Amino acid sequence: MDLRRAGSRMMRGVCVFLSFMALGGLLQPELTGVLDDCFCDVESIDVFNNFKIYPRVKKLMERDYFRYYRVNLKRPCPFWPDDGHCSIKDCHVEPCPESKIPVGIKSGNYNKFAQAAGKMTECEQAKELGAINSTLSNQSKEAFADWARHDDAQDHFCELDDETSPDADYVDLLLNPERFTGYKGPSAWRVWNSIYEENCFKPRSVYRPLNPLAPSRGDDDGEAFYTWLEGLCLEKRVFYRLISGLHSSINIHLCAEHLLDEGWGRTVWGPNLKEFRHRFDTAETKGEGTRRLKNLYFLYLIELRALYKVAPYFERAIVNLYTGNSQEDGATKELLLQIFNEIKIFPMHFDEKSMFAGHKMEAKILKEEFRLHFKNISRIMDCVGCSKCRLWGKLQTQGLGTALKILFSEKEIKNLPEHSPSQGFQLTRQEIVALMNAFSRLSTSIYQLHNFRLLLKESR
Ligand SMILES: *[C@@H]1O[C@H](CO)[C@@H](O)[C@H](O)[C@H]1NC(C)=O
Ligand SMILES: *[C@@H]1O[C@H](CO)[C@@H](O)[C@H](O)[C@H]1NC(C)=O
Ligand SMILES: *[C@@H]1O[C@H](CO)[C@@H](O)[C@H](O)[C@H]1NC(C)=O
Repeated sequence: MDLRRAGSRMMRGVCVFLSFMALGGLLQPELTGVLDDCFCDVESIDVFNNFKIYPRVKKLMERDYFRYYRVNLKRPCPFWPDDGHCSIKDCHVEPCPESKIPVGIKSGNYNKFAQAAGKMTECEQAKELGAINSTLSNQSKEAFADWARHDDAQDHFCELDDETSPDADYVDLLLNPERFTGYKGPSAWRVWNSIYEENCFKPRSVYRPLNPLAPSRGDDDGEAFYTWLEGLCLEKRVFYRLISGLHSSINIHLCAEHLLDEGWGRTVWGPNLKEFRHRFDTAETKGEGTRRLKNLYFLYLIELRALYKVAPYFERAIVNLYTGNSQEDGATKELLLQIFNEIKIFPMHFDEKSMFAGHKMEAKILKEEFRLHFKNISRIMDCVGCSKCRLWGKLQTQGLGTALKILFSEKEIKNLPEHSPSQGFQLTRQEIVALMNAFSRLSTSIYQLHNFRLLLKESR
């Protein structure tokens, strides 16, 4: 399988074979050139995304069909007890009853009181920033009842009950942008830690580099880890890279939409270069940052590939992005098809054929294992303490789950009838909304990265 690295199938002259092809190789000075496990280069993806995809996807996500996502944010964490104060509804970093907060801080004079108030400020801030704005117009609510009749359920890659549970509510994604919430520290680490440590096929004896919860064993942590990763089959390595890519993407959004200033009733959001450096700078992260970013590009290509594969599903006349307003629905579909057309022209795609291509029995087992691990990760999202973070975590894992479902259903998609409902392969509204929003998040990350590169240049 690793023959893919041999370089015989490069699609474009722009691909320069750089010395960092091996994951375990030397520290990479810059994020540039060819990506591992796939013959694509960062620069071409940037141009393609930032000019062709990002502006269109951004517009698409503003359409009614895509802006409302139905989700159950009240499911308890199945893996460990909720830590009481910091659980389900709002995002509390520490318990902080409203009544205990000094009036001066409540009224918004954060900066003035920040030093004196210390933790209290951070706590209230996190609670406020992490809460969901559940404002929905009556008109929207009526429409949702109508939509529900058009949704049908089918086999899912992710957990089903989010959509059908009576606790599930529609959330307006435009009112709840993914950005800094103040949710951090041990309870946030724990979620990511259990994803990486217990769900990425990793033995306990191998530690992830820079894992804040692992016993520090010095500089050779990274080496042992990358030797392990290199030794995995392509599928398991891909799995790890998808998770890492997702983690990177989420962190980029939090850095790009950071709380810069708050006070006098005004909130200012924008890029926080210091936070970005802390997570992605080569020197500050001992080379981890570059790997994280490469995994983001890798994830982008996987989801791009899924969109390419699923295009025929949407091109059928029978598929309608239903909101009840046929003019609007037509325009939404047209915009979606435009995006698919751009994707079809783009020559660099991850070739998923080499996944699960080994021994037939072995491949079947692997695919199932892959699916179960992934399903588990979507359940871990119920352990995220901050509502807004949970919303976006669920949406993005469901989106990736849908992308994987598509990639593994190639045959069924090829044989879809043009004018009658599909039998072998179907997507629910939820899956479609999650798929496109998750891709939009990745597209936004790559766009925001460009901005960070410019800021870094300026700051030198
Ligand atoms: C929620 O969003 C609406 C519409 O933008 C806004 O009027 C309202 O103040 C927001 N509510 C909260 C609690 O932020
Ligand atoms: C929305 O519906 C509720 C309950 O049906 C009603 O009390 C409220 O006045 C309505 N709001 C608007 C703005 O129509
Ligand atoms: C699912 O995740 C939990 C929490 O990280 C872990 O304890 C459990 O072993 C995982 N199960 C599977 C099948 O991966």
